[in-house]
Amino acid sequence: DWTMSAYREEMIAKIREQVGDKQVICALSGGVDSSVTGILLHEAIGDQLTCVFVDHGLLRLNEAEQVVQMFRDNYNLNLIHADESDLFLGALEGVSDPEIKRKTIGKLFIDVFQKYADQIEGAEFLAQGTLYPDVIESVSFSGGPSVTIKSHHNVGGLPEKMGLKLVEPLRELFKDEVRALGHELGLPASFIGRHPFPGPGLAIRCPGEITRDKLEILRKADAVYIDQIRKHGLYDEIWQAFAAILPMRTVGVMGDGRTYDYALALRAVTSVDGMTADYYPFSHDFLGETSTRIINEVKGINRVFYDTTSKPPGTIELE
Ligand code: XMP
Repeated sequence: DWTMSAYREEMIAKIREQVGDKQVICALSGGVDSSVTGILLHEAIGDQLTCVFVDHGLLRLNEAEQVVQMFRDNYNLNLIHADESDLFLGALEGVSDPEIKRKTIGKLFIDVFQKYADQIEGAEFLAQGTLYPDVIESVSFSGGPSVTIKSHHNVGGLPEKMGLKLVEPLRELFKDEVRALGHELGLPASFIGRHPFPGPGLAIRCPGEITRDKLEILRKADAVYIDQIRKHGLYDEIWQAFAAILPMRTVGVMGDGRTYDYALALRAVTSVDGMTADYYPFSHDFLGETSTRIINEVKGINRVFYDTTSKPPGTIELE
């Protein structure tokens, strides 16, 4: 629409003004926010931009391949695919505290970008897809109590020593506005419509200790769940849906045998901006069919729960 196209031009002018002739690196996560950030920057400054897609080992099934493919097929931008999963998963070994997980991942992200920035001659800026809700949820009011709910890995705290300045063109926007801008920039509809995915990825959908085994089970279960949602035509009605693997095993029975496997939580919410959310009222048929499919198709899960908590008092993610 005309408002968004005017806004787009305004942002492009601002980016050019801020960046000048310097090089920028952009943290591409594959989500709508960072994709729009990358494409907008590419439009503003072309080859002065290098995008780095970091695979932290906490992505969903086949996600890295899909993201890289989409950018290679549609945009002619400088893209580095960095597989850093050993680094991240190694650092997270034995960590179960949610804030320590987030801080560990956040710190490594900075290290990794520093590493790539060092390889790019004249890199002075780091672009991030920070949105308005990220900004305000992380604000602490001076004089009052801190209202920080969770450490967002992509907000604030960029150490001065990193020596990179931030470019955050989406800081004033809500999610729906970012989607409109993505449409304006020609991002494929399948990408624009994707549910949000948090920077720390599956780490915060795996409460307790993160292991490669649990991640593999979680990826498969999540893929079946999302497939069910798509098959029932519900994907676009839902703001965000995902599975989380719970830090407990329970006893079950399958065929003649006893099982002792992980329990899985399914979450789905409706929301306008992620700040508040209602749990999605799936039919009992849908829930029954989905848990049957997951237990039959995913080895390692023998029990499925549906999370009926809204936000508040819950948050959308489990951590
Ligand atoms: P919560 O769990 O706080 O999440 O209700 C609100 C929205 O934010 C996403 N989220 C994140 N996004 N980095 C991100 O980029 C993060 O660290 C992060 N933590 C939560 C979450 O998926 C939901 O859409």
